[in-house]
Amino acid sequence: MSKPSRRGSLAVFPGSFDPITNGHLDIVHRGLSLFDRVRMAILVNLEKRPLFTVEERVAIIRETSRGNPRVEVDTFSGLLVDYAERVGARVILRGIRAISDFEFEFQMALMNRRLNPRIETVFMMPAESYSYVSSRLVKEVFQLGGRIQGLVPPVVEKRLHEKYGTPIPPRRTARLRRKR
Ligand code: PNS
Repeated sequence: MSKPSRRGSLAVFPGSFDPITNGHLDIVHRGLSLFDRVRMAILVNLEKRPLFTVEERVAIIRETSRGNPRVEVDTFSGLLVDYAERVGARVILRGIRAISDFEFEFQMALMNRRLNPRIETVFMMPAESYSYVSSRLVKEVFQLGGRIQGLVPPVVEKRLHEKYGTPIPPRRTARLRRKR
C-alpha cells in the first residue's frame, strides 16, 4: 500500500463527468472541507460513446477549477481501487443525490471494499438545488433547446454551444446593460 502523500489527504472523486455539472462541483467543494486535495478522475471507457472526449472533459475541468491547486484532474482505466491505491488515496468520494442513487452506489462501494478493504468510500450530498441535476439530463435539455444556465459552469454551456454549432447567447448582464 502506498503511503499517504506528503501533500496531505487525497480523495479520488471518480466519474464520467460528461460534462461536469454544478452538482459535481458542489461535491468537490464539500470534499475539500474534509480532505486536503480532491482529484477528479475521469473513467476512460472505450465502450461508452461520450459527448465530450476525455481530453475535452479534462480541459473543461481544468478551466473550471483554475486557480485552486487543491482540485486536481486525471484519467484512469481499469479498476478504480487500483487507481486510488496507485495515487496514494485512501478515500473514494461520491455524491448521492437521492435514494435512487443509493442502491447502485452502495453496491459499488461494497464491491470496491471487497477488492481493496484499505480504501473507504465517502458519500456526500449536494445542495438540494442540485438533487435533480445529472449530466445526462443537462445534455438532453440542451439538445432540446432548454435553458441549462445555473446547472453547469459557464464553460460547459459554451462548449455545448460549440459542440452543437449553436450561437452562444449574450450574457444576461450584457443584455440588461444594453436595455438601459
Ligand atoms: O459518473 P459515473 O458514470 O456514475 O461513474 C461511474 C464510475 C466511473 C465511478 C464507475 O463506473 C467505476 O468506478 N468504474 C471503474 C471500473 C471499476 O472499478 N469497476 C468496479 C467498481 S464496482
